[in-house]
Amino acid sequence: MTSPSYGLEGRAAVVTGATRGIGRAVAQALASAGALVCVTARDADEVRRTALELGGIGLAGSVADPGHHRRLTELALGEFGRLDVLVNNAATNQPYGPLMDAAPEAWREAFTVNVEAPLRLVQCAWRSWMSEHGGTVINVCTEGAGHVGPNVGAYGTSKAALLHLTGQLAGELGPRVRVNSVSPGLVRTEMARFMWEPGELDIAAGLPLGRIGEPEDVARAVLWLASDAAEWVTGADLVVDGGTRVRAAHIPAS
Ligand SMILES: NC(=O)c1ccc[n+]([C@@H]2O[C@H](COP(=O)([O-])OP(=O)(O)OC[C@H]3O[C@@H](n4cnc5c(N)ncnc54)[C@H](OP(=O)(O)O)[C@@H]3O)[C@@H](O)[C@H]2O)c1
Repeated sequence: MTSPSYGLEGRAAVVTGATRGIGRAVAQALASAGALVCVTARDADEVRRTALELGGIGLAGSVADPGHHRRLTELALGEFGRLDVLVNNAATNQPYGPLMDAAPEAWREAFTVNVEAPLRLVQCAWRSWMSEHGGTVINVCTEGAGHVGPNVGAYGTSKAALLHLTGQLAGELGPRVRVNSVSPGLVRTEMARFMWEPGELDIAAGLPLGRIGEPEDVARAVLWLASDAAEWVTGADLVVDGGTRVRAAHIPAS
């Protein structure tokens, strides 16, 4: 049996993109389970507010800034003396539109934020703590990484790369470090507002589980993967999508 805290009591976690949406819910869930939480995002006021609310610490900056990765892991290690959990959640869904219109800098930025930053952060965590003491990494991907869609070519391609990176790292870093991903379907956050706001009821009616996701739905999955309850799970992708992938078989109630 695992304890209600899933063994996360006193462990230290870094969560990127943690001031709102899914990252905020993940940081909250980890803090509620007794973990020491270090949050980051670009807006300094929001980072301060979130850290205060969660009783944790924070550092403002972009995950696109290579220096930020080192400063972030150093802060967590300096303040907590350990770094057990890394949640790579920050992402961009830009450039949005047909790939033939994607500017090179915008394409590179998508890969810098969505793929390179998670790798660099894992390297920092591995070199400074996890290679010796162990730990766990959770990358937030997307259900959409498994298929193509209009206007999301850069986002989908970079998230598919993150999914691949998750498996590669899981193979390379075991047994000390477990690396998994969570792939959400449509979740009620700012990033996805343009998708759910115009037709939420119709979208929900088409899903086997009858509603769009809430950030807490995803946070519970991340918490489980971070915990000792998932001690024999690595290289896995946990799809949390309300049945989006199987909706073709769904017969809506009349
Ligand atoms: N919502 C969905 O339907 C959905 C579906 C599938 C996957 N996801 C994935 O879930 C994750 C979280 O998305 P969300 O919907 O919760 O987004 P959100 O509500 O827009 O929150 C994004 C968070 O990331 C921070 N952030 C953005 N760019 C950053 C950067 N370059 N460096 C550091 N922090 C940055 C934001 O704060 P600042 O702006 O202050 O930096 C904010 O805290 C993403 O990986 C996304 O791809 C979301």
